[in-house]
Amino acid sequence: MKNVNAARLVPPAPYPGSKDLGPFTRLARMTTSQIDGLPKDVYELDTWCPPFPGMPLLIMDPDLIKTVLLDEAEDFPQGALFSRIMKPVWGEGLLLSQGDAWKSQRRAAAIAFRAGSMAALTPFFVQATERALQRWQARGFGQMDLLEEMKRLTFDIIIDTMLSGAEEIDRDALRIRIGALFADISKLKLSYLVRGDAYHAGRRSQTSVHRAPVVLFLSNLINARRAVPPRGDLLDHLISAEDPDSGRGLSDDQLIDNILGFILAGYETTSVALTWTLYLIASDAPTRARLLEEVHLQLGQAPVSKENIGELRFTGQVISEALRIYPPAFMLTRIVGRDRMFGDRRLKAGQRINIPIWAVHRQARNWPDPHAFDPDRFDPESPAPDRYTYMPFGAGPRICIGAAFAMTEMTAVIATLLSTVEITPPPRQSVWPETGLALTPRGGMSVTIRPL
Ligand code: HEM
Repeated sequence: MKNVNAARLVPPAPYPGSKDLGPFTRLARMTTSQIDGLPKDVYELDTWCPPFPGMPLLIMDPDLIKTVLLDEAEDFPQGALFSRIMKPVWGEGLLLSQGDAWKSQRRAAAIAFRAGSMAALTPFFVQATERALQRWQARGFGQMDLLEEMKRLTFDIIIDTMLSGAEEIDRDALRIRIGALFADISKLKLSYLVRGDAYHAGRRSQTSVHRAPVVLFLSNLINARRAVPPRGDLLDHLISAEDPDSGRGLSDDQLIDNILGFILAGYETTSVALTWTLYLIASDAPTRARLLEEVHLQLGQAPVSKENIGELRFTGQVISEALRIYPPAFMLTRIVGRDRMFGDRRLKAGQRINIPIWAVHRQARNWPDPHAFDPDRFDPESPAPDRYTYMPFGAGPRICIGAAFAMTEMTAVIATLLSTVEITPPPRQSVWPETGLALTPRGGMSVTIRPL
């Protein structure tokens, strides 16, 4: 891995040790922001536990992370609190199913998301970005909230790729409903967090009033699509997908729950990832210049296509580094399934374990000059980072199924935008990462966009 040049951009973030907090102030800070109050130890040590009973154990050591996410993943489930929070949205979909039910759905859906088929979706990504550019042009460009714009764009993309032919639907209405479903999850999260995991086992989840209309819409859409020849989008892949071992496909309920889940998982995460990446590019002139050079060299005047998208290597490096600096999934969480030894600690069943991806990505022992933005860390000529020190998409059997989709989508969107507009970032002091369901810029991201 390359050494980082001292003149590199150091983006806004709570840096370890920049605040000397007492334990109670720290606890208060950690309940409002899961990254703000993290002590220096989390950026340096293997494990850390807040000095209060019943608090989660944080693990940063790559070997311990591998044990939890891969080697002994079945002994570290996501837990009852997670299911209770997510069930009103995800129903019985992939994210919440366990054991054989999960395996069978995961294998069936993996076929629809295999990395090799993602380049073929490039025209969908480019057309949706061009529609966003037309919207901006129609209003004379100028100042806008980049986060809101990226939400609208990624929502358009997910609808186009997942449910093509759904042109007649009222996208804004559906997006608002889905936003409301999200907001309900955040509310549930706060109200459920006060009790330990065991309390939540077997308890009913509060339902969201926004779920039923969305489910009805998807159910009608699936019925309509079963009646017409396949169009080759993700919904067709999911309808025809079968687990290669059992030959079982997805039931209608599973299809609905998974489509809803993919919209939710793919919409919020990718829109914040794009916002942060574009912010970093706009703030770092040398990176922007290299990107433009790559885009001109590889694409000339042509749009990004399935043939040339693989050539945009530096764009991929920039996205990878942005996902290290501002990982949308900033914290993964699991529960200890049975009393056991873990490293040199004895843990009880039900103990919560958190993997602070945010801090793992910023440990100096793994990343020289860890807070600096340097896409050359991901130069294909340099050794790749250890699997368990870089995990924007998680790791192990539950690794993000949409990772290749998201990377291809972001590459196409960024290359299309860079070759047509210039983005001026907001003043540094107005940018701050906030921990909601994803790592989001607080108050949005007010930028100025001009045509080139
Ligand atoms: C930059 C964008 C994205 C990021 C950072 C991201 C991150 C993640 C992470 C960290 C996990 C693992 C969670 C855990 O282990 O607890 C995950 C799981 C998942 N993601 Fe993504 N994701 C992104 C985009 C997408 C997209 C576009 C889709 C679908 C279209 C998607 C669908 C899923 C699903 C279904 C799972 C659950 C997989 C399972 O439990 O088997 N994600 N994602």
